[in-house]
Amino acid sequence: MTDKPRALIIGGGNGIGEAAALLMHARGWRVIVADRDADAAGRVAASIDGTARCLDITDEAALNQAAEKEESRGGIAALVVCAALFQDIMPPEAYPTADWERTIGVNLTGTWLANRAFGSRMARRGAGAIVNIASIAALGSVPVHAYGSSKAAVVALTQNLAGEWGRSGVRVNCVSPGSTLVPRVQARLATGRYAAHPKEFTALGRAVEPNEVAEAIEFLASPRASAITGVNLVVDCGWEVASTWAQYGGVRASYAPPT
Ligand SMILES: NC(=O)c1ccc[n+]([C@@H]2O[C@H](COP(=O)([O-])OP(=O)(O)OC[C@H]3O[C@@H](n4cnc5c(N)ncnc54)[C@H](O)[C@@H]3O)[C@@H](O)[C@H]2O)c1
Repeated sequence: MTDKPRALIIGGGNGIGEAAALLMHARGWRVIVADRDADAAGRVAASIDGTARCLDITDEAALNQAAEKEESRGGIAALVVCAALFQDIMPPEAYPTADWERTIGVNLTGTWLANRAFGSRMARRGAGAIVNIASIAALGSVPVHAYGSSKAAVVALTQNLAGEWGRSGVRVNCVSPGSTLVPRVQARLATGRYAAHPKEFTALGRAVEPNEVAEAIEFLASPRASAITGVNLVVDCGWEVASTWAQYGGVRASYAPPT
């Protein structure tokens, strides 16, 4: 019997991280679900015969301890970093500096700390794959200043670390989801907290499903992506391509043959 490859998913207790945990389990991975919300991590881990770990991505000592513990068991094959904070739309002068720092602290510094803790040990061992999660907010202009900046920096960090560790056998990639129908987003839609449904702005005319992001994550984590490192794989139902169509009245509603 061969050992299953092990994946640790930080932020695996909800949303995209949860979808990735379920899909990776189904594809033959042994999944460790880490989240600062211990109950959420426990719930997801229990549903896939996985391991739950209460872990805050901003806690450097806890990350190093977790990475050391995994290394003593042979090491993880893949790290997926899904933990993030979101922010409300706010004019710059109304956005408290403490909130800016908290968002950057989780989304950028947390991603850096997790990559460093696990990636440096993977590099020493000579194998591993890391998948970070950025966002379409990294690709265009958005009114969520800290969130968008943190995600653009995650793309840059991914490229930097891919260069750093490539010859040590470690691949580092990121996935940039468009608006994805996780329960948190569904709740926002239900309470009218978005000005419009995200489907209005995509080429495909719909929002992304969590499982569709999970597919990209699992692919990049797996040996099927063995020649791919340093990329930002956008999973957005065509939000990026459709955005430049606004000046022309938006993408076509549906195909109509020329008359
Ligand atoms: N859902 C979307 O529309 C969307 C779009 C673009 C990018 N993303 C990105 O995808 C990733 C997952 O987002 P989601 O929508 O699934 O979010 P979510 O809120 O459903 O899940 C995020 C998880 O991260 C955990 N978390 C938050 N802070 C943490 C910390 N400090 N330490 C450890 N865990 C922590 C939360 O407890 C939660 O379980 C994030 O990086 C997000 O920025 C999401």
